[in-house]
Amino acid sequence: MNIDVFTLFPEWFDWFRAQRHVGNVLAAGSRLECVDFREHTPLRGGQVDDTPFGGGAGMVLRVDVIDSALRAHYGLDPIALRGQRRVLALAPGGRVLDEALVEELAAEPALTLLCGRYEGFDERVLEHFASDVVSIGRYVLSGGELAAMVLCDAVLRKLPGALGHEHSAVEESFSAALDGHPEYPHYTRPAEYRGWRVPEVLLSGHHGRIEEWRRERSRERGTAPARDEAQGG
Ligand code: 6GU
Repeated sequence: MNIDVFTLFPEWFDWFRAQRHVGNVLAAGSRLECVDFREHTPLRGGQVDDTPFGGGAGMVLRVDVIDSALRAHYGLDPIALRGQRRVLALAPGGRVLDEALVEELAAEPALTLLCGRYEGFDERVLEHFASDVVSIGRYVLSGGELAAMVLCDAVLRKLPGALGHEHSAVEESFSAALDGHPEYPHYTRPAEYRGWRVPEVLLSGHHGRIEEWRRERSRERGTAPARDEAQGG
């Protein structure tokens, strides 16, 4: 997986890259690269944003700046780029990231993430350069960088080598292995704490019964919103 993140704050991602599961995936051959919009701006003084037409508060990232950055990095008109790889603009009003979208993105060979700041992108960026507009929830962050890290975290941990155990990502919350349900509860030592006992079945060593218990608890914990919606239920 090759991920390019376009941002005004590339150094924020140094911390992210240093996290163990991210480091593991990068060591296994994936790439996470940051491109600074400011390095490619055609405007003087490193300008990247401007006041909104029609008035109003805040600043808007300019379409010509984003065009230049994408063109400089890929040597290609960004209109053509989105036909070649997923170009995700991160904006609060986009498609809300969920496990289904994470799995879809984890199957891509390459992703480009555009992080907005201020009031966001000139709408023409979303219309002409982005293949997707993605949000991490219905609230407003100061910029797309944290959302990009959330997305990268969720996607990268799906890739081989991210987790210590190859098995770990298979049977986790919302996965196909659990029919899209949340994960079953976990317990570890001590088996009793302040009178709170771990369920007896987990101490029984009976794998069939443990398996059955886990599936029941997982089902109990919730329905699978994405699937229910997909089925019109
Ligand atoms: Cl992707 N960007 C911003 N600025 N705010 C958000 C978001 C993205 N997702 C949720 N809130």
